[in-house]
Formats: sequence, C-alpha cells, structure tokens
Amino acid sequence: MKKNLLSPVILILFGGLLATGVHAQPALKDAFKDDFLIGTALRDSQLTGENTNEMALIQAQFNAISPDNALKWKPVHPEPGRFNFAPADRYVEFGVKNHMFIVGHTLVWHDQTPSWVFQDDKGNPVDRDTLLARMREHILTVVGRYKGKIGGWDVVNEALNEDGTLRQSPWLKIIGEDYIAKAFEYAHEADPKAQLNYNDFSLENAPKREGAIKLIKKLQAQGVPITGVGLEGHYKMGWPAPAQVEAAIDDFAKLGVKVAITELDVDVLPAATQSQAAEVSMNFALRAELNPYTTGLPDSVQQALAKRYADLFTAFLKQPGVVNRVTFWGVTDADSWLNNWPVRGRTAYPLLFNRDYQPKPAFEAVLKVAQHP
Ligand code: GLA
Repeated sequence: MKKNLLSPVILILFGGLLATGVHAQPALKDAFKDDFLIGTALRDSQLTGENTNEMALIQAQFNAISPDNALKWKPVHPEPGRFNFAPADRYVEFGVKNHMFIVGHTLVWHDQTPSWVFQDDKGNPVDRDTLLARMREHILTVVGRYKGKIGGWDVVNEALNEDGTLRQSPWLKIIGEDYIAKAFEYAHEADPKAQLNYNDFSLENAPKREGAIKLIKKLQAQGVPITGVGLEGHYKMGWPAPAQVEAAIDDFAKLGVKVAITELDVDVLPAATQSQAAEVSMNFALRAELNPYTTGLPDSVQQALAKRYADLFTAFLKQPGVVNRVTFWGVTDADSWLNNWPVRGRTAYPLLFNRDYQPKPAFEAVLKVAQHP
C-alpha cells in the first residue's frame, strides 16, 4: 500500500528534476558564492549571435561579466565627439537582465586608444591641459552613461613596466605621473559608488608588484579613491608559483584594497618567448612545434591543467575576504585570445570549458577546491 502511494510521487519528483535541469552540471557561481564572484569576458558577437549553447553556459555558470572590447577607448570613442555605444549598451543590458555584476574595462590604457587622443589637428602632441580635458570628457561621458549599472571600472590599465617603473605611454609623457590620480578622480566624480581598480599583468613578480604598491600608497596618501587591484591572471603552467599569487594577494590586502583576478587563463602551449608579460603587442611566427595539440589535448596535459587550476584557486581562497572576483578571459577554449597571441593561428586550451561547451577536468578540479579548500 505504502509502496503504491510512493511510486507516483517519486515519478513526479524525478520528472520535475529532469525538467528543471537540476541534474545538469553544478555552477561555478554557486560553488564560490560565499567567496567571490565568478566572471567571464563577453564579445559583442556573442550578444548579437545565435549561439544558444554558449549563452546558456554564460547564464548558468557566471555572475559577473567583463567586455572584451566594447568599452575600450577606440571602439567606444573612435573620433572626437563621436561615441559608439551600441555594443556597450548591449553588454550592459545583458548584465542587468541577468542580475550580473557588470565590469567596465577600461578607461585609460596605452593600447586600443586612437592616436587623435594625443594629437592636435596637425598631428603634433597636445599639451597637458588638452589631454586632461579629453580624458575627463571621455570618462564623464562613458562612466556617466552606465552610472549605477556598471559596478566596477578598470580605471587605469597596465601603467607599469616589468621593473616596476611607470610605462612611458603618451599619457605619462604628456600629462606626467598624476594622470593616474586624475583618471581615478574623474571616474569617482562620474559615479561615486563604483568600485575603481588599477589593472595589470605580472604583479605576481616582485619588482612589478613593488611598483604597484608604491603607486597605490601614493594614491592613497593623496586621498585618491582606489578600491582594488586587478591581477590579470594570464598565467602559464609554470608561472607564477601559487606562493607568488598568495604573496601578491597578501601584499595588496595589507594596503586595504580588494583584489580581483580579472582575465584568468592558463596557457598550456609551448612558450614562444621567455617573457612572462602579457604584452598585447608581442607577435611571433607560427612554427609547428609551437602548436602541438591541433587535434586535441593529451590526457596528461588535461590532468596537469586541472591540477594547476586547483592550485591557483586554492591560492585565491587563502585569505578570505580579499579576492572579490575571479573572471576568466573567455568562456570556452574557442573564445580565447591565446589562439592568436603571442602566435597567430594556434589551438589553445586555457579555459574550463572545451570547444563543445563541455566542462574539462579543470572545471571539476576547481569545483572540488570550493568544496574542500
Ligand atoms: C589585456 C587587456 C585585455 C585584453 C587582453 C588580451 O590583458 O587588458 O583587455 O585585450 O589583453 O585579449
């Protein structure tokens, strides 16, 4: 009797589970909900395209988004007085609709910034006041448009050299060292509630990290509203050591700022250069030995990548409350910039989902860290 009553109930329950997709893979954003946000970078073609597999994965797994290009100066402000907001609007709307933390990337950078920004009508460098006025207009317009929707900005991107000195960018040459403080002040003026980050690569290496610490201390002493540091996280299999990641997080925590891992990927391909810098301008010729996995990733490398990811996430969790977001630079391996950098036309495997939208062993390894840090 009891058995007869129970079986329809079990059937209904089981059917319900299938219908709601409860049997589907667990979500990174849920696994780390008490620790940090889990983000991914979005391309405009994902938002305008019809790849339902990818969109479903984004909505299921991530609670934060970064735009790969839509908010960089060149795409959003290609000519004086002309803004192209369509892709950025689509990006922000997607985040709002899906209740995601929306990142603004990036306001002041030496790359993907049109040359007119730094020049007058005759092609000569503008003076400090003109460049400051252009920077302020850009920041007030772009940050102001998404006030209250974009939760955090990468205000200044990659201002440091590997030795910790300031990069000789047109910003530095024309304005002087305080261009960084000014960018933060303008961003704060445009949206006083937004988180404001300094974002860079290789901050795990001591010399560059010292430069960042010096920079942040100076900004803080001047009352500049900096809330966090972004470690880009363009990592290799052998670099940085987890201890270097922990040390960087520790050092920035001591300054009272939050740390975000902003562009995470782990390159398993043979190195084309000994440099650890994620310098976008690097470009090396394609040679067969630099592209060994064109037909698939050997299991030994999959497993090594899984272990590497587990070690990195263990490092991110080491100091509770410091890392507030971990954002991957792409969703599946097919999305990754590493298919074309620093060598064009390779088959890269740096992310947690494969080209068929399936989780890789590294995905399982990261989830396990959430359960047993
Ligand atoms: C840098 C930038 C990103 C992106 C990557 C490469 O890290 O911050 O916006 O351009 O390079 O894709």
